[in-house]
This record gives sequence, C-alpha cells and structure tokens, in this order.
Amino acid sequence: MMEPESSAPLRIGILTVSDRSARGERADAAGPALAGAVSEQGWQIVQTGIVPDEKEILENTLAAWCDTHQMDILLTTGGTGFSHRDVTPEATQAIIERNAPGLAEAMRAYSLQVTPHAMLSRAAAGIRGRTLIINLPGSPRAALENLAVILPVLPHAAELLREDPQAEAGHQKQDRTK
Ligand code: MTE
Repeated sequence: MMEPESSAPLRIGILTVSDRSARGERADAAGPALAGAVSEQGWQIVQTGIVPDEKEILENTLAAWCDTHQMDILLTTGGTGFSHRDVTPEATQAIIERNAPGLAEAMRAYSLQVTPHAMLSRAAAGIRGRTLIINLPGSPRAALENLAVILPVLPHAAELLREDPQAEAGHQKQDRTK
C-alpha cells in the first residue's frame, strides 16, 4: 500500500470494547457516534469493530489494526473504568511502544469540569509504529466529550507520526503473523 501523504485525510479506526455489544445484546451506540464526529472532520474511517472486554483479544486486535491497516489514529471506546472486566488501558499499554500520556491527562482535566466521575477514567494513550491509540470512555456522550478535547491536536499528531523514520523502523519490526 502507498504511504499516505502528510496532507492526506486522517485515517481513523474505531474499536468498541463491550461484552454486551460483542454478544449482540446491546447495540453499539458509541462507535457510530464517534464515526459521525470523525466523518464531520472530513477524515476517513478505515476500520471499525466490536470486541469483548478480553485483554488478549483486545491486544491482538489493537496490534493487528496498527500493523496492517496503516491508520493514523485508533480510537477505542469503553472498558476504561473500574469494573473487573475493564482492561482496555492494560491491553493498550501492553502493545504500545511509546506512551502519550498528555492526551489522557487533557481529557481528564477537561472532564473533571463536567463530572467528578472523570477521576474514575483510567484511559491511556500511546503510539505503536505510526498509529496513535487513544482510549475513550464507553458512553456515547462521554466518548464524544472526550474526543472533542483531543480532536484539535490529531492532525498535527498524525503529521508527526507520518514523518518519523524511527517509528516506521519500529513498525516494520513488529511480528505481523499472529
Ligand atoms: N468524561 C466525560 N467527559 N463525561 C463523562 O460522563 N464519565 C466518566 C469517565 N469520563 C465521563 C467521563 C465515568 S462515569 C467513567 S466510569 C470513566 O469515564 C470510564 O468510562 P468507561 O468505563 O465507560 O470506559
């Protein structure tokens, strides 16, 4: 596949993490809400999906999406709270190569002005190859509120990641076979 140009529309993946949605018991509302907000920016949605709150499945999906779909930004929604099944931050931390804590810090700082429950967000963000993974909360409203905080910096983040030769070297080294 051709390398995307720096000025090309951002390529976005949206992964919904929810046991109930993965089982088909509850319609995924957050994924489509995020897709709508992303499309409004004129950005391209290259992959969407729903996985259960299973760390290994989540890790494999995140890694595969980063390594094979050449997306700039991978947004996850759900699994960032305190429930025993919430493992999205752990799965993210397990497969990223570099932390990007400022994004989660900014989201929590803003969200604390909306609700004290923002303190219960364990969301993480980090970089694998040329892809920036960002955890968002599971409720559609909270996911959109958090996305709005980081949206303005995403084009520059993608621009930096597309131009970094070190990131590309790391990308190529990843095992893509699993
Ligand atoms: N952030 C904003 N802006 N608005 C919200 O309503 N909900 C919080 C928090 N962040 C919220 C928010 C709540 S209640 C939780 S438990 C955490 O996000 C984690 O959400 P998750 O478990 O759905 O991923």
